[in-house]
Amino acid sequence: MSRVAYVNGQYLPHGRAAVHIEDRGYQFADGVYEVVAIAGGRLTDWDGHLRRLERSLAELRITAPMGSGALAIVCREVVRRNRVTAGMLYLQITRGVARRDHPFPRGVAPSLVVTARSIDFAAVARRAEKGVGVITMPDIRWGRCDIKTVSLLPNILAKQAARDEGAYEAWLVDDTGHVTEGSSTNAWIVDEQGRLVTRPAGHAILNGVTRQTLIALARRLGYEVLERPFTVAEAQAAREAFITSTTGFLLPVTEIDGRPVANGAPGSISEALLAAYRSHITEQSD
Ligand code: PDD
Repeated sequence: MSRVAYVNGQYLPHGRAAVHIEDRGYQFADGVYEVVAIAGGRLTDWDGHLRRLERSLAELRITAPMGSGALAIVCREVVRRNRVTAGMLYLQITRGVARRDHPFPRGVAPSLVVTARSIDFAAVARRAEKGVGVITMPDIRWGRCDIKTVSLLPNILAKQAARDEGAYEAWLVDDTGHVTEGSSTNAWIVDEQGRLVTRPAGHAILNGVTRQTLIALARRLGYEVLERPFTVAEAQAAREAFITSTTGFLLPVTEIDGRPVANGAPGSISEALLAAYRSHITEQSD
């Protein structure tokens, strides 16, 4: 089936969809994005993604290309035209097209691109059953990781380093030895008392929508959630560890820098939380 992309007001065949060479997203990574899970053909946690998108735009002083209602209509239309029932929506807004010059250009319309594609969630589930390995490496990113910008070079370098070492994800570590987050996921551990520990939202991490949803779900299930930084040593000694993201949901971390977490198998709390998250997706999509 042919894919369709939305680009600045038009629905185009994916292969012909393009932005101008002087788009500031292309030249300066001057833009923001969101990735939204599609389940049952519907957008999961749309409100949370929209809120974060609006915040990212405001922080960078980029004008929204349209109101939130119109944006939701475009996104749903992209999902519909691509006939995606299980997958992800990608939405990118850049400051727009202008002659290359560092200061913000005046009177330029922002660019909006929306795409959607299927994901094999059965493969994601198999990965969750096995668990994943992570490596740790220094967090060399900038001071505003809370803004979801398309400027992801350190993230992709970290992800590739992980893959080169046969691991799934890289956990980034700040200069005090505390884990900030994964290259495209939030990082969590479960301590000896069965409490969930994850870094507080702030400038050092992206406040994941999955993270926010899971904190709420976990508390509702009676788990204590501590939002505080944790060290690599703590993670290696933890009862369980896991990562969360829109496309991976919750993936148990069974190995950190080649050392098994606990007995090296996904833990029961991770599994319970994943089950709760899956029900949330089926119940609350859109
Ligand atoms: N990544 N931290 C970083 C650096 C991320 O890029 C992401 C998401 C997350 C998790 O956020 P959320 O739960 O809202 O997906 C944390 C997306 C999926 C990506 O870039 O593909």
